Amino acid sequence: MFITFEGPEGAGKTTQVNLLAEALRADGRRVVATHEPGGTVLGEDIRRILLAPGGTISPRAEALLFVAARSQLVDEVIRPALARGEIVLCDRFSDSTIAYQAGGRGLARDAIESLITFATGGLEPDLTFLLDLAAAAGLNRKHGGSQTRLDLENLAFHERVRVMYLDLARRFPDRIVVIDAARPIDDIARQIQAITRERLAARAGGERSR
Ligand code: TMP
Repeated sequence: MFITFEGPEGAGKTTQVNLLAEALRADGRRVVATHEPGGTVLGEDIRRILLAPGGTISPRAEALLFVAARSQLVDEVIRPALARGEIVLCDRFSDSTIAYQAGGRGLARDAIESLITFATGGLEPDLTFLLDLAAAAGLNRKHGGSQTRLDLENLAFHERVRVMYLDLARRFPDRIVVIDAARPIDDIARQIQAITRERLAARAGGERSR
């Protein structure tokens, strides 16, 4: 099962990925936790280029770099782990490119969707947790921490990202679960664990009846 975590800056995705990985391992399941952009040697190199503040990266070049990192991660890490029957948790995936490069940057959504399909070979998550938070609240949480090139975009950019995420959640209601990320970390973790265990049980039931 392939599970992704999405949301704006400062929504707490990384914390929730780690907490879910811990909980599933305690259930005796094998889990691979990874993140985007990154998770491979090539991906981490691309991450440094993409996130370093300053410099000039055009919107289309930016989109291509994000999907290049994803392509490597899918081929090198995600597909092999899924083939071994493991659960893969990924901190960001294709929805980020639609939210940031189509929503935030204003690139054509159908072009971005084609790039994503090419890069992933059509791999899509089984379940996505969208940690939803007002753009200003997320950015405030990140203040004090290190700011990436994308964190430094203006509030309007981050608001367009949120609008696109919520649009994706409306389009794919079976896959994307919207989580109110303004709540305490432990409440969110419990909700995410409960939903994941339910989905895993439903899949196991489906496989048995086939
Ligand atoms: P983070 O994963 O540490 O939050 O940093 C990744 C940054 O890159 C974040 O600002 C979101 C952005 N991003 C995109 O713009 N497009 C993408 O496809 C992905 C994966 C991330």
